[in-house]
Amino acid sequence: MSEIHRASTTAPVNIAVIKYWGKRDPKLNLPTNSSLSVTLSQSDLRTHTTASCSPSYPSSDSLLLNGSPQDVTGARTQACFRELRALRSALEAANPSLPKLSSMPLKIVSENNFPTAAGLASSAAGFAALVRAIANLYELPASPTELSRIARQGSGSACRSLFGGYVGWEQGSQADGSDSVAFQVAPASHWPEMRALILVVSAAKKGVSSTTGMQTTVATSSLFTSRATETVPRRMLEMQKAIQEKDFEGFGKVTMMDSNSFHATCLDTYPPIFYLNDVSRAAIKTVECINAATGKIVAAYTFDAGPNAVIYYLEENEKAVVGVFKAMIGGKDGWKGARGEKVEGNKEGLEAV
Ligand code: DP6
Repeated sequence: MSEIHRASTTAPVNIAVIKYWGKRDPKLNLPTNSSLSVTLSQSDLRTHTTASCSPSYPSSDSLLLNGSPQDVTGARTQACFRELRALRSALEAANPSLPKLSSMPLKIVSENNFPTAAGLASSAAGFAALVRAIANLYELPASPTELSRIARQGSGSACRSLFGGYVGWEQGSQADGSDSVAFQVAPASHWPEMRALILVVSAAKKGVSSTTGMQTTVATSSLFTSRATETVPRRMLEMQKAIQEKDFEGFGKVTMMDSNSFHATCLDTYPPIFYLNDVSRAAIKTVECINAATGKIVAAYTFDAGPNAVIYYLEENEKAVVGVFKAMIGGKDGWKGARGEKVEGNKEGLEAV
């Protein structure tokens, strides 16, 4: 019986406050604009992945997600496998005594503890965990930045889940994508009072995948160019300043405006893409009411490619924000559930090195 080599890891989800929407190079998964997200607590929303390899495994690589076999022949997964194997091969060439893991079939087993493909950043945590599990298996001396470059090719948003705290993804300018990587804007400890409330409207798979949706937006939306070239570059700077200064009003305003801008370009896509529904719009109204009653921005909504809402707020405003939403859950308002999240901290080398 041949030896089995194995390594496990978990990766958290991240929820963007400046959205990635548009590819300038679909093959290398290079974005048309930079983006910025908050990495949520690893304890509740995460993908757990074990990567193993053995000469005794069937000859092709395999991936099991929540117990179901997945296609690994797609270009994205293949790109991640290829890059990681190349790094391992280089290690083996430099140290001939190392086992030749790079030539063994890989078996990946992943579990999500949240709805897959329902606008809850499952591909982000999924590819981040896949890349780091294989990097651990191969004992690669790769930095989170290097791993983010690889995870980006699996799913763009995944590159940001390699870091904890407040994380940017620089769109980069190199044609080979070598500078299109994630970077840490601030560790979670810089602003530990930040909280995210996730309101699940629907756990169903999204109607239009992010990949298809953004390609159609780039091809047809007249709002898209100004968003990518003017609005987002300006907001990236405003958002980084708000985070550095721990200015929640600035953070919240830019978060909400960027979510609105992203969903406006979706509506401006032809045929139009609707990710928000009536329940999502009720959440927007509720946040507006909370902020109006408080006289300042204490809650900020954002929506990815699905109807589920993520509400950012500071711990000190827990009652004013969560209290109101909790009262709506389980009632006639359409919410299926809610969960509170902290910003991911210092575990597993998630902080910048
Ligand atoms: C709306 O990262 O899922 O969540 O690169 O095609 O896999 P692919 O797209 P993906 O898109 C995420 C889009 C978003 C915004 C964001 O997370 O920045």
